[in-house]
Amino acid sequence: MPITCYDDGRLIKLDTASSSCVLRVFKEGYLLCLYYGAKIPDANLDGLAYRDWASSFSPRNEIIGEREFSPDVAPLEFSGFGTGDFRKTAVAVRNADGNDCTDFRYVSHAVEKGKKAPKNMPAVYENAEGECETLSVLMRDEVTGAELTLYYTVFETLGVMTRFASLENKSDRAMEIEKLCSASVQLNDMDYDFLHLYGRWGAERNLTRTPLGHGHQSLSSARGSSSHYHNPFAALVRHGADEDQGEVYGFNLVYSGSFDITVDVDYYETTRVNMGINPDGFLWRLEPGERFDTPEAVLVFSEEGLGGMSRTFHRLYLNNLVRGPYKIAKRPLLINSWEAAYFDFDADKLVSFAQRAKELGIDMLVMDDGWFGRRNNDRTSLGDWYVNEEKLAGGLGSLIERVNALGLKFGIWYEPEMISPDSDLFRAHPDWCLHVPGRRNSIARHQYVIDMSRKDVRDNIFEQMSAVLSKYKIDYVKWDFNRNLTEAGSALLEAERGEEIFHRFVLGTYELMGRLVDAFPDLLIENCSGGGGRFDPGMLYYSPQIWASDNTDPIERLAIQFGTSLCYPASTMGAHVSMSRRTGFETKGSVAMWGTFGYELDPNRLTDKDKEIVKKQVEDYHKYYELIHYGDLYRVLSPWDDAYRCAWEFVSPDKTEMLYTEVVMRYYHCPKHIVRMKGLDPDKVYQLEGTDQKYSGALLMKAGLNLSADFPRGTGESFTLHFISVR
Ligand code: DGJ
Repeated sequence: MPITCYDDGRLIKLDTASSSCVLRVFKEGYLLCLYYGAKIPDANLDGLAYRDWASSFSPRNEIIGEREFSPDVAPLEFSGFGTGDFRKTAVAVRNADGNDCTDFRYVSHAVEKGKKAPKNMPAVYENAEGECETLSVLMRDEVTGAELTLYYTVFETLGVMTRFASLENKSDRAMEIEKLCSASVQLNDMDYDFLHLYGRWGAERNLTRTPLGHGHQSLSSARGSSSHYHNPFAALVRHGADEDQGEVYGFNLVYSGSFDITVDVDYYETTRVNMGINPDGFLWRLEPGERFDTPEAVLVFSEEGLGGMSRTFHRLYLNNLVRGPYKIAKRPLLINSWEAAYFDFDADKLVSFAQRAKELGIDMLVMDDGWFGRRNNDRTSLGDWYVNEEKLAGGLGSLIERVNALGLKFGIWYEPEMISPDSDLFRAHPDWCLHVPGRRNSIARHQYVIDMSRKDVRDNIFEQMSAVLSKYKIDYVKWDFNRNLTEAGSALLEAERGEEIFHRFVLGTYELMGRLVDAFPDLLIENCSGGGGRFDPGMLYYSPQIWASDNTDPIERLAIQFGTSLCYPASTMGAHVSMSRRTGFETKGSVAMWGTFGYELDPNRLTDKDKEIVKKQVEDYHKYYELIHYGDLYRVLSPWDDAYRCAWEFVSPDKTEMLYTEVVMRYYHCPKHIVRMKGLDPDKVYQLEGTDQKYSGALLMKAGLNLSADFPRGTGESFTLHFISVR
């Protein structure tokens, strides 16, 4: 049973196959988290009894009276602001009396089968009955009448817990939520490293790992999107734990807007992790009877190091987050026009790409930016989503027919949340962009941000998109987002709701994406934000793949893909071979194969030799599709730890097959380069394809293979080894 109650329901234990969390309803209804970590048995839970000591500076509850208890030191599961807990609290609500004190106490709880999800937001889902169980804990602040429900869903077999909170105004006066975390997690010590992914345009999701210190450490976005700069993912890694062993707590938010993950180490050296919508720039008014749901947080605990944590996230997102036919159906191998032509194309040029692509075995042509309005550069026409007939002589229908006649599918680019000041849409509706009265709008990439909080605006964009998507045979949409939010105000939002705009923007985007997915269920959507500026689980709910970065240099991509893989599976990671110059075509293919493989180049410019390599890559794409898409990822040599080489493996779920890829980042001359493989069955015998060499799984994993003499070692070279079990 994943959720069990003891002691008349005052002790609640949540178990996955690998982790446990124990909640205690303490005196006076304080809800404590006594334990979260590796799985423990149900017997003798008394050993977790709460014991503390509070100094006189730590306020006490007068009724409990004991020195042992203070909200300031107790492991409060979801503490309110201003009533004795001076650490970073999970919730702050400003009430009609003008103060923001709350003190939520346990009222009741319920356990039910299945999954609960926050309203109107993306969330992990249940595939089949019995896959998960949900605990809901009702808490109340007696003074303000605010009621809080904490939801915990346990996916026992997968080893995952998801959480969100819901706050309802049960009083007869309005209140304002200043902060409401999706989850607040208590750990009993501070012996961890804080690991997260930082980056910038063209260099997304680098890994950083630093020991936790006293005080607060946090990462956040205030940009209105999850951003290139910080990903809504963090892990606490036990000192000494590494890729393959040791305790790791992984946290990820299913949210695409401004977020915050704060780790607070208190003076008794316990750790609290709060995660949710960024409280900076957020204030949500709740009228009597209204309710607010937070985004969902995903919690993974692993004793198998970072690799174990990643594989759990990957399985969850593949099976329980990504939706639509392309969750199962094979993704088309695409060629995208952006780096091949930028804005400089016409129908004949695109058809010539399609002709060459067909000869190479590619499945789909994607016409990127530049097909609509008068869009011949990035200064104009966002919002005018009708075909530029001057550019595409004969019209879009004729172009698609010509591409389809060659046997290729067709995809198209949109940037629905943006508007160019030079557009018919803006001229007709200057108040449809985000803006604040009396303040000049900041411009970025010559564009403003559309007010996605407005239904009339969303209706217009949906109608424009759906006019094109229903008229023509379009198989794929690349959904781009090329700037962040500034002067974030809406002409329709009352002054007292002004600070709701960031979250309302995200809800509006989700609503529009949801509408598109419902209206065009067969469409494959690839998300993008100037590369990987919105690579988050919220977006994955609508688009099963996301363009990982505008940086297609295979050597620089190694770090980007390594970082991305901490949380997100290969099948979600847009990765293309381009004309970038640093390596030959083989290595470009080896790196891009670790993702939703494709091309980003003018195929007319390929030499005959390159074409042969591309044909081989296309063959490999089909050969290894299942293994890469559904297999388990093992990171072997990390670009952050090894100055010379980078390597990774995909192992089939039944461990009968393994694909090892290694890229030489810097010339490496050493007679001994012994690599210990991972994730194999020690008792199986594996044959290296193309040879008669056979090795036991145990030998490959324990002794390793010497990959020096016969293997490439020049800068930018790479090789791939395919092992198949023969017994
Ligand atoms: C940014 C994307 O990341 C690129 O791939 C391309 O689609 C451009 N936008 C088009 O403007």
